[in-house]
Amino acid sequence: MNGARIFLGVSGGIAAYKAAALTSTLVQRGALVDVVMTSEAERFVTPLTFASLTARPVYTSLWDTPERIPHIRLIREADVALVLPATANLIAKLAAGIADDLLTAALLAARIPRILAPAMNETMYEDAATKANLATLRARGYETVDPERGFLAEREFGVGRLAGEERILQALERTLARRRALRGKRVAITAGPTREAFDPVRFLSNASSGATGIELAREAALRGASVTLMLGPTLLEPPAGVDVVRVTTASELYDAALEHAAGADLTIATAAVSDWRPAERSDSKVKKSGEALTVALAPNPDVLAELGRRKGSGFLVGFAAETDHHEKRAREKLRAKHLDAIAVNDVAGERGFGPGHNALVLLWGDEGRRELGVADKTTLAARLLDAVEELMRCS
Ligand code: CTP
Repeated sequence: MNGARIFLGVSGGIAAYKAAALTSTLVQRGALVDVVMTSEAERFVTPLTFASLTARPVYTSLWDTPERIPHIRLIREADVALVLPATANLIAKLAAGIADDLLTAALLAARIPRILAPAMNETMYEDAATKANLATLRARGYETVDPERGFLAEREFGVGRLAGEERILQALERTLARRRALRGKRVAITAGPTREAFDPVRFLSNASSGATGIELAREAALRGASVTLMLGPTLLEPPAGVDVVRVTTASELYDAALEHAAGADLTIATAAVSDWRPAERSDSKVKKSGEALTVALAPNPDVLAELGRRKGSGFLVGFAAETDHHEKRAREKLRAKHLDAIAVNDVAGERGFGPGHNALVLLWGDEGRRELGVADKTTLAARLLDAVEELMRCS
């Protein structure tokens, strides 16, 4: 916990007083805690309580600081965000993307891990709306420390009591350890489509957006790695804090990959490389003649296969875009390209290529298999790196 920066959100439930006790523990363990309270939380505990414990300013509104956008700064500087207690109302607002106060705006702008510690009356917790909202947030990457059964403020026994401090500290420790896991490591990632020109205005390409590789690069950088992202043509913005090498064709990607993956601790090939290029490229626009046109295609180099041939001690992960017999084909690629692991992607339907949700399964060795579930690409990037880091530790 020493030196960790923790963004602590406090919303308006009676368990808010426990946030004060936790703050004291965190400060004693060397964490730097920035507290953001909702106005309802202020009815249970005062900002002065937290300001005294942290010896830092406490934030309660989007408007009461001279800074124009304090929510962005606060959440960007932190290593992890914890909301304790998370009320049913706050959970509903987060699930709907509402950002009408400093806390919800900061959480919506967060790229750091977010942990919710819900606490509320049992009936509210068991309500279908709360359950659905929590499921939505989990699928978007939020972690939850589920409440326990115990004595509730209504003088009833039930589920809804804030998780004990030990469980909350464990969740924080786990997340912080994950954030440091790639410190000092070099990570190389290929991403996006390639474009193979036929003439100055036409090219052969595919629907890849580069989102998977971009999210992996962002997540690896957040975990402390120095990251090189070799990125094909895409409108998506590469993440900050990452070295970006722009490429257009498969052979440019090949050259970049051989240079940047050499000596990398971890290489991940997410690029949807065009397997062929037009054998001839015309320097001027090809005119139509009304006749059918036959274009000869020449094979492109297989970037990942070459990285596999040259593989040293670095860990090599490929992706397999498949429309059928997914895992069987992916295992063949795992072996043929000498990979340490391969992530299987179903590209038969709408999933896979766009920035939206995706489903991934990670395969390694003869039988190693882990489902990473269906989630947005930011969440899947974090789950994939969790799994890969585990394999790297064991290899
Ligand atoms: N790959 C690569 N260079 C290529 C083709 C693929 O580096 N010319 C990499 C991709 O980045 C991915 C893996 O190889 O990590 C598998 O890509 P995929 O398109 O699923 O398979 P291919 O090897 O191209 O085989 P096929 O298209 O026949 O399924």
